[in-house]
Amino acid sequence: MTCVRSPGRTARFLMLVLLLMAVGCGRREPQPSDSKSAAGTAEGTAAAASPAAEAAALDQGPRAAEAMEAVAPLAATGQMLFDAKGCTGCHTFGESDTAPDLRGVASRRTAAWLRRQILEPEWMAEHDSLTRAMVEHYGVPMADLDVSTDEAAALLHFLVREDAGP
Ligand code: HEC
Repeated sequence: MTCVRSPGRTARFLMLVLLLMAVGCGRREPQPSDSKSAAGTAEGTAAAASPAAEAAALDQGPRAAEAMEAVAPLAATGQMLFDAKGCTGCHTFGESDTAPDLRGVASRRTAAWLRRQILEPEWMAEHDSLTRAMVEHYGVPMADLDVSTDEAAALLHFLVREDAGP
């Protein structure tokens, strides 16, 4: 008797493929959104105003360390990115040589301000008075390291965790 390929096999294979696809789609990265901090600041509300007003609004509201709590896995990712993205090339916690000391930075700045600084340092150097003062002091603006919004969120959680102390 010749071997007839059972039609059930193809069907089972297709089921498996569909199942794997379903599993793959379900496993999405958690969205690191900290609605608490976004709600606590004027971020987004000054879009229609001048860039300077928009920048000034970023500094309004509670400081990042007051407005949010570091989520451990995000902070761990942020720590890894801090190294991988090259932030360590200029920044340390505890020293201020070529760039600001990042110790306590989450207690000095709002979450919205920090996010913008990490995402768009050039825009901040142009429009934000706090950043302009730092550029003047250090003689160089911060580099744009092409950080994504998810990466910036993780970096923010890392900075907040560092401020919380060991
Ligand atoms: C080429 C050097 C350089 C690199 C690389 C760099 N920075 Fe900066 N950073 C600066 C300088 C200089 C300033 C101050 C002037 C400015 O903001 O433009 C600054 C400012 C900051 C501030 C604000 C500090 C304060 O006291 O308000 C934060 C937060 C920060 N950087 C985070 C980062 C993170 C996160 C990365 C990595 C994604 C990074 N920086 C990469 C040089 C650097």
